[in-house]
Amino acid sequence: MKIVSTIAETRAAVRAAKAAGKTVGFVPTMGALHAGHISLVRAAKARCDYVAVSIFVNPTQFGPSEDLARYPRTFDADCEKLISEKVNLLFAPSVEEMYPAGASTLVIAEGISERLDGHSRPGHFRGVTTVVAKLFHILDPNVAFFGQKDAAQAAIIQRMVRDLAFPVDIVVCPIVRESDGLALSSRNVYLSAAERKQALVLSRTLREVETRWRAGERDSARLIEIARRVLLSEPEVRLDYIEIVDPASLEAIANISQPALVAVAAFVGSTRLIDNLLLG
Ligand code: PAF
Repeated sequence: MKIVSTIAETRAAVRAAKAAGKTVGFVPTMGALHAGHISLVRAAKARCDYVAVSIFVNPTQFGPSEDLARYPRTFDADCEKLISEKVNLLFAPSVEEMYPAGASTLVIAEGISERLDGHSRPGHFRGVTTVVAKLFHILDPNVAFFGQKDAAQAAIIQRMVRDLAFPVDIVVCPIVRESDGLALSSRNVYLSAAERKQALVLSRTLREVETRWRAGERDSARLIEIARRVLLSEPEVRLDYIEIVDPASLEAIANISQPALVAVAAFVGSTRLIDNLLLG
């Protein structure tokens, strides 16, 4: 695996791969790699001849009171994992490389970026679209891979790609869960043993919604009420939001007659976790 930290080296490596007729798959990450990321890498390996991964903890997608400083950084372990997956290129830039002094250009998907996590974390998706647009320019991938765990992020990236005609296919890969249902997340490392147990209420809540939906309930307000009750049965968990929305526009759906995304965010201790489920 070639490890590079500059835009120039990355462009040269990708250009050479493309000149050799290879299709380029790209997996953007913030590191602290777990089996969820590895599933994206494997999807990229299965579909593309040349796979590039980026590790960049992007400061512009963290709010002032969020966990940028303590976000897990496990670069050496990440490299080992990527080497054993036979990744071709790792782009691990510095903040200065990605944001030159005075950088002031933003990419914003208006409206949609204020929904779900965008509502609770103002400016978060503006940071995501800005950095992903820049990564796409640098790596020029044919296909890019994102996780369904960040369903709102995936929808917003797809909107950006469509609106700005980026020549890249977006593939969204399924959520990877622990055997007890906990969705994998780099932030799970913050959880104490007790909190980890409490965190299971997120996937339990989603399963209960799915059961009621399978039994014929189509009214979002009633499903959300049921979900709230399950979630609040865990007293140490603080609900941020639970919503039922259109998976592409992220707009609320009152009655479920089309595919719907049930998305939940909650604080377990000081750790904010998200999870979701697609109905239909
Ligand atoms: O999902 C993530 O890890 C990040 O939001 C991403 C897409 C790498 C952008 O920083």
